[in-house]
Amino acid sequence: MALFDLFSKKPKDHRLPFVVDIHSHLLPGLDDGVKSMEEATFILKLFQKMGYKKVITTPHVSREHYPNTQEKIVNTLHEVREYLAGEQIDIKIEAAAEYFLDEVLMEQITGHEKLMTFDDNYLLFETSFINKPAFLEEAVFNMNANGYQPVLAHPERYYYLQADPELTQRLRDMNVHFQLNLLSLFGFYSREVRKFAQMLLKSEKADFIGSDCHSAHHANEIFKNLNAKNLKLLKSWEFIKNSLLSL
Ligand SMILES: [Fe+2]
Repeated sequence: MALFDLFSKKPKDHRLPFVVDIHSHLLPGLDDGVKSMEEATFILKLFQKMGYKKVITTPHVSREHYPNTQEKIVNTLHEVREYLAGEQIDIKIEAAAEYFLDEVLMEQITGHEKLMTFDDNYLLFETSFINKPAFLEEAVFNMNANGYQPVLAHPERYYYLQADPELTQRLRDMNVHFQLNLLSLFGFYSREVRKFAQMLLKSEKADFIGSDCHSAHHANEIFKNLNAKNLKLLKSWEFIKNSLLSL
C-alpha cells in the first residue's frame, strides 16, 4: 500500500436511497429557479454525485406570477437537453409542473384540459404558505374525479397545515400524496418546518421526497447535508415511493 493511501480517506458517499427527483426548478427563465444553463448544469452534476438518474423538473405555473404554458415548458426543456448534450451528465431530464392552486387550475381540471403530470398521472400542486385556499378540498375532489393523483408540494411549509392536524388527516383521507422537501428535513427553512416534517415522517404521512432545488445554493446545501446520519435516516423511511417511479 502506498503511503498516500494510508492517509487518504475513503471518498464520502453522498448517494441518496432513491434515484428519481420529482420537484425542481431547473429550466432557466421560466420562474424563480435557475438563472442560466450553466447553473442548471452545475446542479445536475451535483445531482449526479447524489445518485440521481432521472429528474422531473417542475416549473411554477400560476395565473398571477408564472403563466407558463405547456409549450413554453417543453420548448425550454428541449433547449436544456440540447445544451446538456455536450456535458458529462448521465441524468435523464423530463418536465412536469408545480401548479399553484388558483381559479385557472380549477378550470383546467374541470374543463378536462391536459395538465403536465408524471408517472401515474401524479399532479404536483402548491398553495399559499399562509392561508388555506377556500376551495382546497373541492380542488382535491376534482383532481381525483378527473383521474389525477394529487401530490401536495412541501406540506410541511404551510402554516395553515402546521396548525391543523385535522385538515392534514382529511387531506390524507382524500388521497392527497405528500411530497416533502429534502431541505426541510435539514432545517434549512425553519425549526418549525423541520419539526412538522419530522412529525409527518414519524406518522408515515409522506409519499415522496423532492429537492425543490431552485439554485446552485440549494443544491450545495442538500449535498453538504447528505452525511452518514442523514442518509441512514432517509433509508429508514421505507414508505417513501420515489423508488417506485419509472426510470
Ligand atoms: Fe417548487
